[in-house]
Amino acid sequence: MTLPMTRDEAWELFCEWTPSESLRRHVLAVEACMRAYARKFGEDEELWGVTALLHDFDWEMHPTLEQHPQDGAPILREEGWPDEVIDAILSHAEHLSLPRDTLLKKTLFACDELSGFIVACGYVRPTGIDGLEVKSVKKKLKQPSFAAGVNRDDVTNSAEALGVDLDEHIAFVIAALQPHARELGLRTEADAA
Ligand SMILES: [Fe+2]
Ligand SMILES: [Fe+2]
Repeated sequence: MTLPMTRDEAWELFCEWTPSESLRRHVLAVEACMRAYARKFGEDEELWGVTALLHDFDWEMHPTLEQHPQDGAPILREEGWPDEVIDAILSHAEHLSLPRDTLLKKTLFACDELSGFIVACGYVRPTGIDGLEVKSVKKKLKQPSFAAGVNRDDVTNSAEALGVDLDEHIAFVIAALQPHARELGLRTEADAA
């Protein structure tokens, strides 16, 4: 599919709209997971990557569910993004209750909350997500006070909707994020040595 801009241009556009370091890290984390899943599923990695980068592009300008992401969609349309990207971005929002009827939509939803949760697990470990085990992620999922903003039902339901085993999904996301630890602000084994 022809996209109106390159990945780096999409990133620049995102950053123009998003001064917040934490939101920048969030979309980079989702991008890393989406690219990994696109490779696994034999899908268009560039398309999946930019969809992830742009899915929260308007959040800082539209920081309420009355506006995000629906008021961002016309801006993306103006920029020439295809419906496939825009529809996937709209579908990540639970409050819009849109069908997640493509693999792209299902995967975006399954990576959105979980990637943030796993990065949060890494922030409280001296080696970040290096050596982070699935069972300790699951233990933290059972502690409501840890990363309380992450909706646990979304994590489990989205994996189920994607048709992946939750343990495998967690392991896959950890592995996808590992090469990006630095840009996500995570420590690594090298720091602890
Ligand atoms: Fe969002
Ligand atoms: Fe998000």
